[in-house]
Amino acid sequence: MKKIFSQRFPEMMRDTGVLKNRLIFFVGLNTGYVTDGLPDDRYVEFYRRRSSPRLHCAIIGNVVIPEGHGSNPSTPMLTQDKIWGRIAAEIADQGTVPGIQLATTWPDYQGMRSFVGQDHEAVISSSRDIVMSIGRSGALKVISAFEEGANLAIDHGFRHIQVHGAHGYLLSLLIDQRINPHADEVLKELSEAASNWISKGVDVSIRISLRTGAENFDLYGGDEFNDNIASTPFNYIDLSSGFYNIDKRLIYPSRPDIVSSRLDETLAVASRHPRKDFIYSGKAMSNAGHLAADNVHLGICRDIIANPDFLNVGVGDRGCKNRSKCHYFSRGMQSLTCALWEDNNDDK
Ligand SMILES: Cc1cc2nc3c(=O)[nH]c(=O)nc-3n(C[C@H](O)[C@H](O)[C@H](O)COP(=O)(O)O)c2cc1C
Repeated sequence: MKKIFSQRFPEMMRDTGVLKNRLIFFVGLNTGYVTDGLPDDRYVEFYRRRSSPRLHCAIIGNVVIPEGHGSNPSTPMLTQDKIWGRIAAEIADQGTVPGIQLATTWPDYQGMRSFVGQDHEAVISSSRDIVMSIGRSGALKVISAFEEGANLAIDHGFRHIQVHGAHGYLLSLLIDQRINPHADEVLKELSEAASNWISKGVDVSIRISLRTGAENFDLYGGDEFNDNIASTPFNYIDLSSGFYNIDKRLIYPSRPDIVSSRLDETLAVASRHPRKDFIYSGKAMSNAGHLAADNVHLGICRDIIANPDFLNVGVGDRGCKNRSKCHYFSRGMQSLTCALWEDNNDDK
């Protein structure tokens, strides 16, 4: 198992050149700071406080595309409302590229509260049923809704568009040939859409799951799936892991063995595609010393949640301490909180 670096960075990383040429992303996060389906002042302040020239791009998370479905009641909906432009402008004003992750589930989707599901193969089987019930033309309509959402987001001022093809949400099912027999066609449409967004001057990324967490399913076809995604025109492939209703420990790794295998799996995909850029997350800063290849950028989430100044020189040792309070949905709460904010007198 690899040695996990101490958290005495980023100064140490900068001194040794580990961070040189690597971009830092604040990866997708659903804060729950939402009122009547729209981000509220808490949302704007949260991202304003965390944006700075040290952060390349902040990707606001899990924003529901027009006519789409949220993963929980506090997921924000993308509309014409001016709040979206305000968020993009606040992030850009601090020196960070404003990014947005677009997503949808389906009408009766229910996120699991527990961290590990009981019947993993049943989730895979119901995923295939959902794809079948949507059908080929329904799947293409979903891609059109992503296009509509991306165009709206670009009009609001977002400069990085990410499509959420991970965690068992609808797009992750539609693009995986092991779940959807028409996945090739869906990926072709999505690739055309991505090229179109790039031609408007924005960066584009797709987030996928390296594994679902269902052991039998994960045994076969994973490399082929990752290679198919890597051959799309997206500028960045954001490598997450896990399906929400199978094993959330893969999505937010904390156990050293899970952190370590996520790193190994990320590096394996990135080394097969040296000309493609990847975003690596899952305690990424702690493992940045293991990144030899230049095509792997850092995606950070819980450290920046815990400490808005995490990327500033001298405070890098004050990141996430795995106290798990941020998992508000699993804890039956409405919005994000962090045990360290309480310790530090509400330093949100
Ligand atoms: C409270 C919370 C909410 C999250 N929401 C999202 C989300 O909306 N979309 C997404 O793709 N990932 C989401 N994630 C996963 C993170 O983007 C990230 O991949 C994960 O936390 C691992 O990175 P880290 O170790 O730096 O936290 C969330 C994570 C946390 C802790």
